[in-house]
Amino acid sequence: MERSKIAVLKFGGSVLINDESCMRVIHEVYRYFRKGYRVLAVVSALENETDRLIEEAAAITGPRESSFLPFLLATGEEKTATLLAMGLERVGLKTQLAHPYSLSLKVNGPGLDAKPTGVNLGHLQNLLGANDVVVVPGFVGIDEANNLAVMGRGGTDLTALFLAQRLQASVCRLIKDVDGVFESDPNLSKKRLKRYNTIHWDEVQSVAKVLVQPKATLFSKEQRFEFEVAGFGKKQATTVGPYPSDLQVYSPSPPLRVGLLGLGNVGGGIYRHLTSLTDLFSIEKVVVKHAGKKRDITVPKDIFSTQTETLFDQPLDLLIECIGGTEPATFLIETALELGIDVVTANKEILAKSGDRLEELTFKTGARLFSSAAVGGGAPILEGVKTLTENNGIKQVDAVLNGTCNFILDKVAAGKSFDQALKQAQDLGFAEADPSLDIEGWDAAFKIQIISYLAFGVFLDVRKIPVEGITSLEEEQIRAVVKNGKAYRLIASCKLENGEVKARVRPEIIPSHYFLAGARNETCRAILTPEMGDPVYLSGKGAGCWPTSEAVIADVLDIYRLRSDQEIIKNVPEYPPKGAGSYLRN
Ligand code: HSE
Repeated sequence: MERSKIAVLKFGGSVLINDESCMRVIHEVYRYFRKGYRVLAVVSALENETDRLIEEAAAITGPRESSFLPFLLATGEEKTATLLAMGLERVGLKTQLAHPYSLSLKVNGPGLDAKPTGVNLGHLQNLLGANDVVVVPGFVGIDEANNLAVMGRGGTDLTALFLAQRLQASVCRLIKDVDGVFESDPNLSKKRLKRYNTIHWDEVQSVAKVLVQPKATLFSKEQRFEFEVAGFGKKQATTVGPYPSDLQVYSPSPPLRVGLLGLGNVGGGIYRHLTSLTDLFSIEKVVVKHAGKKRDITVPKDIFSTQTETLFDQPLDLLIECIGGTEPATFLIETALELGIDVVTANKEILAKSGDRLEELTFKTGARLFSSAAVGGGAPILEGVKTLTENNGIKQVDAVLNGTCNFILDKVAAGKSFDQALKQAQDLGFAEADPSLDIEGWDAAFKIQIISYLAFGVFLDVRKIPVEGITSLEEEQIRAVVKNGKAYRLIASCKLENGEVKARVRPEIIPSHYFLAGARNETCRAILTPEMGDPVYLSGKGAGCWPTSEAVIADVLDIYRLRSDQEIIKNVPEYPPKGAGSYLRN
């Protein structure tokens, strides 16, 4: 995906309360990343952290203010930025942490109330070009004497606006604990308040001077650079700029009623995410295969069941399928779609075998079927294929699509036995419940079938794809090629040749410096060759609870936004569909 657009997202102390809220921040970053933006995340300290640090300082300095106070206060932002970078790395995003010193983020004025004056823009642009996300601690800059100085209360707003303006970012969004700028603070009012769709800089100064730092608003006005104020995960925002104020009645959407199928590696991750998003989702039912299985999650008894027939006993808006296998999952997805319930699944086997039929159902009932996590885990491979198909047209895809095989090949090359490596991949939650699907190449075959349907609109019979897994390789064979500067990779390919779509999966020996050989451990990589223009290279963590559940949650949040847009009224699309593979086109 060509990532030319930049989104600057600012997260303040009020949204960074604890680890759970850190996950919410990651969802928001991932949302823009998968839409094709390079993301600059600017973060402030955890709520109350700055006050705590001021108290700590006072315990030493008494009423006198130390010239080193900005150094101490800066640790609050550094801590959050570091924790966020760790979380982003866990979901597989290529992340860079950039300190104000490394960015030469210069300020002048009083040490506790400074103003930004300059930044090494070339360096910042390079960092954004080389990474998916750059995390910057807000509030802090470097003064003329090369000491740290801070930009006053709410100063992270100013850091975000300053950097967004210098970068000429397409989006600058300040994410708050309220859904935009209201006529008064909604956290202090019980009545239903009106919200601004747009508001002029001058008015925001008087209406929301606590919500948005006045110095930041002034900077935005001076630079004629508009910004948005929004709540977490929301589509709608208040745009602050040269606009007349537009105040509207605001009714937040009720939480979506969710049924969750499966509580394994990915399902468990989803359950944890949903329980930290109770303002957006209410879990109505959790159905699992085995009641007695040991889990580190406790689900309330009244919503827990092993009986799949109870799944639709209560109204649902959304079904999240993580139970795996083809049955009963296919039947339950079909039933949900027939009932008009939206479905999110990462089940590649079902899509590769029945995706065309399920797609037909979505066109008949208007229910949505979203499945971005089915291929590539957290790597946005389907998003990349979709973008290229729509813009340039695709000629060929070559990819490493199975994290387990890739992990095993790397570990065996490094000296482990095949069985030890497989066991480790299972322990890390990379492998399928039946790992023969991974090592025999079928998981990769399902994924390349899904890609070729999206790219070429042809629904291949997956049983007819020539498939060879890594079980045909001897351990010594895998080690020997490494000594020659090469590597084995399980390559899945599909191409359009003389009007015919061909796909295959097989282990191949490739030079170590090739892009696909550079996929390490559970990483997935894909090279998309367009009809015209340069190839597109995609990479990310392809297996494991965190990357996969992040991609599933991204679909779930997209559905929340779409439904809140349409006030739960379904827009039934035309049938039969115009282009095939449209269930993958969310
Ligand atoms: N078993 C799969 C893999 C999980 O290893 O890639 C992600 O689809």
